[in-house]
Amino acid sequence: MTNQTKLTIGVFDSGFGGLTVLRALLPLIPASHYIYLGDTARLPYGSKSRETIARYAVESAKFLHAQGADLLVIACNTATALALPDLQQALPIPVIGVIQPGAEAALAASSPSSRTLVLATAATVQSHAYAEALTALGLHATEKACPLLVPLVEEGWTNHPVTDEVLKIYLNEALAAAPNAETLLLGCTHYPLLEPAIRRTLANLNHPLTIIDSADATARATAKAVRRHFPNAAAAAQPTCTFYATDSVEKFQRLGSAFLGHPLGEVHLLDLGG
Ligand code: DGL
Repeated sequence: MTNQTKLTIGVFDSGFGGLTVLRALLPLIPASHYIYLGDTARLPYGSKSRETIARYAVESAKFLHAQGADLLVIACNTATALALPDLQQALPIPVIGVIQPGAEAALAASSPSSRTLVLATAATVQSHAYAEALTALGLHATEKACPLLVPLVEEGWTNHPVTDEVLKIYLNEALAAAPNAETLLLGCTHYPLLEPAIRRTLANLNHPLTIIDSADATARATAKAVRRHFPNAAAAAQPTCTFYATDSVEKFQRLGSAFLGHPLGEVHLLDLGG
């Protein structure tokens, strides 16, 4: 990037859940070009080993860097939890994850020493990245793996009786393990798409909780990094976006447009190998 030119921000997720982070970034850092990559062909990351997640995430991140990204946002909790140090080591640009901003958002919404219930993929839960980040901030954490939620979101079933039933089972189990939880942290970038269904299910279980997601907090952390690393970036311009998916561009376009509230435009098909 040269002085006063538009900053290019790479945004990466295993699917289109990371659009929740892109949606928060657009109004906060409008004078940027965004390159979004959803590694849909290799999703879900959340049921894979640390080595595989790190390899996929580093390959995806290197692609975004090669496309001109000046800074990278890992809009995927699983990739952040399992591979943030690998990504920061592999790339010569600032790399921002979602876990620390998510934990800080939980802190801001919680009373001191209270318990946060974290819903996340199996890999994120096994890494205990959230428990560590929340404990370091003086909070207690109970983590619950919800492996069926990502496929339901990727199917577009965000408002569907099957999803409601699955949520009821997961939330009942989670609340039995953490009856005194005060906040519910959505530890997967796909889950904000289920927020109305989660809210509805909690109301039916007569157990309302404050729901937190890391998208806004991650966007704020990114804005701070932009000010620090790129003080001369252009301040006024409309955002522009380029989208890549590694599978089914039509589905990405359809579900992603509905979610962002405007057409995504062309989605490029990308082959990152197996
Ligand atoms: N978006 C990923 C996350 O935030 C989950 C999707 C997956 O399992 O690949 O954890």
